[in-house]
Amino acid sequence: MIDSHCHLAGPEFIEDLDAVIERAQAAGLRRALVILAADDEPELKQGGEVAARWNEVRFSIGVHPHAAAKYAAEPGASARVVEAAIDAQPFTRGLGEIGLDYHYDFAPRDVQQAVFREQIRLARRRRLPIVIHTREAEEDTFRILAEESAGEVGVVFHCFTGDRDMARRALDAGFYLSLAGIVTFPRALELHEVAKIVPLDRLLVETDSPFLAPVPYRGKRNEPAHVVRVAEAVAALRGDTAEAVGRAAADNFDRLFNP
Ligand code: NI
Repeated sequence: MIDSHCHLAGPEFIEDLDAVIERAQAAGLRRALVILAADDEPELKQGGEVAARWNEVRFSIGVHPHAAAKYAAEPGASARVVEAAIDAQPFTRGLGEIGLDYHYDFAPRDVQQAVFREQIRLARRRRLPIVIHTREAEEDTFRILAEESAGEVGVVFHCFTGDRDMARRALDAGFYLSLAGIVTFPRALELHEVAKIVPLDRLLVETDSPFLAPVPYRGKRNEPAHVVRVAEAVAALRGDTAEAVGRAAADNFDRLFNP
């Protein structure tokens, strides 16, 4: 089992990092992909601490769309910040999370798009698969990914919450879908349908911890060990075993990220 998206280097885990990692390993996780914000110095530094304690973690680094406004004057500067962080962290295997967020609109949309494009170009130059954050921005996300030929390095839609049509569209483009704790929520009916149709060779599972704790931990801090609950929920929906789902998702992770 692999948690393909968590924020284990965030401030929420500094105090009990060892215990969190022990619980992840005890739950059967052999690896986690830790997301680092390229412009967050404390988080980048803490990434080194995480790697020192768990040598199987790998990293994905990017400028989140929420932070894009910082690069309004010069979007290309975002890619330079990301590249410097990649060069400083030898266990980097992905670029992201990057993308568009029109729900919060923390940065003007044209700026988000420019920063997104610059980072896709960097990902292609460095041959790194891309971890996508997209919210209420489906059309522009697909358009930019296509225009920039992002599929050549591999793309995963992290914490996928779209409907079946959006899932089909992403799958047709060759992308992977990563399901998070929301799939365990009883009322997430559209996502349940998605969990049933994703081919087993395009599915990833993640926690997005410390956010989005699955049932029965809703409202609490989430942690990588809980990815098992996500795999169980997906498996139940598909009439499969959690082991089979976890194994397939881990194989997909290895193929995509070449850890
Ligand atoms: Ni995230």
